[in-house]
Amino acid sequence: MIKRIGILTGGGDCSGLNPTIRGAVYRAQDYNYEVYGIQEGWKGLVKGNISPLSLSEVKEIVDRGGTALGTSRLNPYKIDNGVKQVLDSIKKFKLDAIIAIGGEDTLGVANKLFKEENIKLVGAPKTMDNDLSGTDYTFGFDSSVTRAVEAMRSLQDSGRSHRRIMVLEVMGRHAGWVALYTGMASGADWTLIPEEKTDVKKMYQHLKEVYKKNKYASVVVSEGVTLPGINIGKESLDQFGHMILRNRGVGNILADLIKKNTGIETRHSVIGHIQRGGSPTLFDRILGLRCGVTAADLIAQGKFGYMAALKGSKVIGVPLEKAVSKLKVVDKNWWKLAQIFFK
Ligand code: F6P
Repeated sequence: MIKRIGILTGGGDCSGLNPTIRGAVYRAQDYNYEVYGIQEGWKGLVKGNISPLSLSEVKEIVDRGGTALGTSRLNPYKIDNGVKQVLDSIKKFKLDAIIAIGGEDTLGVANKLFKEENIKLVGAPKTMDNDLSGTDYTFGFDSSVTRAVEAMRSLQDSGRSHRRIMVLEVMGRHAGWVALYTGMASGADWTLIPEEKTDVKKMYQHLKEVYKKNKYASVVVSEGVTLPGINIGKESLDQFGHMILRNRGVGNILADLIKKNTGIETRHSVIGHIQRGGSPTLFDRILGLRCGVTAADLIAQGKFGYMAALKGSKVIGVPLEKAVSKLKVVDKNWWKLAQIFFK
């Protein structure tokens, strides 16, 4: 019998986490669950940083960016006694079940704890990168792209005024969804994503033609893109084995290359963490609330090892295994669609 549940948010923050927390806390009341907030993702379970989370604490957070519970990229499997400390905290705080709100990494840990330690866990799918399998969309993606499109429209205004080519670097180390959507929705002239090799000669030629017609041009590049023959410095790895791309500077390098190869003055901007914050969009608010509610429902139904997921217009439970087994990257059909607008 479930009496007390814990909620955590792990991995990179994004807009939509707070609506999800709110959805779960409100729905938990219907099942008479006591709700505890676990601070800063898995770190809160390792350190025992856990306290009651009331309805009044989440009442006003539906429109707030970030996460009221804090987050971290700590992986309990990568630190000494990490898993034991997690299990001790679950026992100490009498948590009968846990809602883990996160992306591939956080939910990967959730799936492992469920399978190997028999912890009653359910998940909710966040990530600005939209690269989680098992769900049509993750919350956080719509808000990030909305922010990036606004940034691109500003860059285009400036580029049009100064007769320049403008390059916008957006996040996305393995998956180019943010770049792809930003490029399409802002009317950019070229987009580079990690999944597809760029024919740079074709790109230079195309930008020259666009510039000739319009006296400016714009390009979106995903931070994880590699450029042929160019050595872009790699940085260290985080606890989940992902490259930390801070200061890698692909936008900067690309802008220099474009300038050199087209002879056209080029500038770049990096939107960085700005695209992760800010008030969630309508889409992310509603998706977050629905996922939070469904996560609490999954607990009530005893569907542990499941994640709330958007499938068509419905939010349903799908096995966590399905969500974390493979990263969802941009497929050929989406790429073909995006290329229609490289004219
Ligand atoms: O995982 C989401 C993500 O936004 C990536 O696209 C990006 O490379 C990374 O997080 C940045 O993480 P941090 O917040 O640790 O700088």
